[in-house]
Amino acid sequence: MPARPAASRRTVLRGAALTPVAGLGLTACGGGGDTPVGLTEPVELGPESEVAEGGAKLYQDQKVVVSRSEDGAFKAYSSVCTHAGCPANKLEGTRLICPCHGSEFDATTGKVLREPAVAPLKPLTVEVRNGTVIAKPQV
Ligand code: FES
Repeated sequence: MPARPAASRRTVLRGAALTPVAGLGLTACGGGGDTPVGLTEPVELGPESEVAEGGAKLYQDQKVVVSRSEDGAFKAYSSVCTHAGCPANKLEGTRLICPCHGSEFDATTGKVLREPAVAPLKPLTVEVRNGTVIAKPQV
């Protein structure tokens, strides 16, 4: 009986495709099919008037936090926590809070204000087009 090398190679490749790769932003927090991976394509967030000067707004569905300086400049960050990948779900002023282990971030700079997270939020490109705030992944 002849050997079946093609079948065994396919099996190996199929197994390799399912192996998680470090650094792709895939995490196990929350489990299931809704694993947060952050923003992967441009997304319209809403009217620029929703983001007060000197304040910030969390767009939970898009996993983006946008801040606006006193002079009107916008900044945007992924609201996916850099500790273990939970989406932050609370914004107090410009302090973004992760519900999983209590990390806190400055929504105006992305910097960590409270551990266990140690890495800053992932910055996004933000623009206002026809009065609508649009966030894009940085390339
Ligand atoms: Fe956010 Fe752990 S995943 S604090």
